[in-house]
Amino acid sequence: MSSPLHQSAALGALSLPNRIIMAPLGRARSDHDNRQPLPRVRTYYEQRASAGLIISEATHVSAESVSRPGGSAIHDDAQVEAWKPVTKAVHDAGGRIFQQLFHLGRKAHSSRLPGNALPVAPSAIAAVGEVPTADGLQPFPVPRALSRDEIAQRVNDFRLAVRNSGRAGFDGVEIHGANGYLIDQFLRDGSNQRDDDYGGSVENRARFLLEIVDGAIAELGAARVGVRISPHFAVDGISDSDPVALYSHVARELQARAIAYLHLIEPDAIAPQKRLAPRLRELFKGALILAGEFDQDSAQRAIEQGRADFVAFGRLFIANPDLVARFRQRAALNSADEASFYVGGDQGYIDYPFLQDLRSKQPLTA
Ligand SMILES: Cc1cc2nc3c(=O)[nH]c(=O)nc-3n(C[C@H](O)[C@H](O)[C@H](O)COP(=O)(O)O)c2cc1C
Repeated sequence: MSSPLHQSAALGALSLPNRIIMAPLGRARSDHDNRQPLPRVRTYYEQRASAGLIISEATHVSAESVSRPGGSAIHDDAQVEAWKPVTKAVHDAGGRIFQQLFHLGRKAHSSRLPGNALPVAPSAIAAVGEVPTADGLQPFPVPRALSRDEIAQRVNDFRLAVRNSGRAGFDGVEIHGANGYLIDQFLRDGSNQRDDDYGGSVENRARFLLEIVDGAIAELGAARVGVRISPHFAVDGISDSDPVALYSHVARELQARAIAYLHLIEPDAIAPQKRLAPRLRELFKGALILAGEFDQDSAQRAIEQGRADFVAFGRLFIANPDLVARFRQRAALNSADEASFYVGGDQGYIDYPFLQDLRSKQPLTA
């Protein structure tokens, strides 16, 4: 019998041949000026098309969201055209790919933004830590709080980006509500201290995310929309006073909208009593993807115990384009080169060997 990880399962509109998901991984390999994916990006995803589903790198939804050079975007027609060969290559190789969409919010730096504008956020509260700029690491700037009209414009930016993802041939979109970016900044009361109907109660703080999700559903249908959340993420000073109440509300609302999946970053090392997955699984009946430091055995256990439907792997997919085959054969894994995670060209990006490359280098008599 095949392992639970290699069994097929439905995810929204799609039927996935296995439960091994490629986690979203920003690798900074796109054109520095126009933020279009370069040809190597097509090769990178095509190499990983045996994943049950590829979730693309976080892709910027507007010109106001600019990270270090090499990040990709999908807010203009040329970017849509440049993504088309990527989705086609994945489909031609038998794969499926969603696009993860995000806005940096307070984690941008003025020096990179048009007109050196201040980054925007729910409230004028800076992230804790430093951001890479052309002049080296700089403290995160104090952002500008968005007005209500401006919030509506950002919701619309996401909607247009979702439409672009569909035009570019993606099978769906993942709304990036995790890791301290703009949506996460709205969700959590450490970064959202608004006193209008986008701040205060959990209902109000979830409004921005849910309006974006509603826009995505209007564009592509609920079965092609997923949401990523990271309740345990706290590295840039983001925090919440009652994560159980917050994410329970989010799960309930996403259930009401019947989206394809909820993608929860909850490392296996989180103590069982602190895990949110069991609670969210009761409230959200669509597919649950778990991510965070999983290996083959812990992922298999999570699926066998019914804690998740799918498991996403990040660094293992960076280093092992054929991770699905390696798991099936219990083959040795390549290790990832961290120095090339966010910088470089083809090296450390599309040159990790496949099993067959390694085997063809061994003497036949061995
Ligand atoms: C190089 C790198 C880039 C990442 N980029 C993204 C991203 O674009 N969007 C996102 O949601 N998470 C991103 N992550 C987090 C991963 O999706 C994943 O949650 C994390 O690596 C933990 O999973 P792992 O232990 O299997 O690597 C990134 C992680 C790494 C190492």
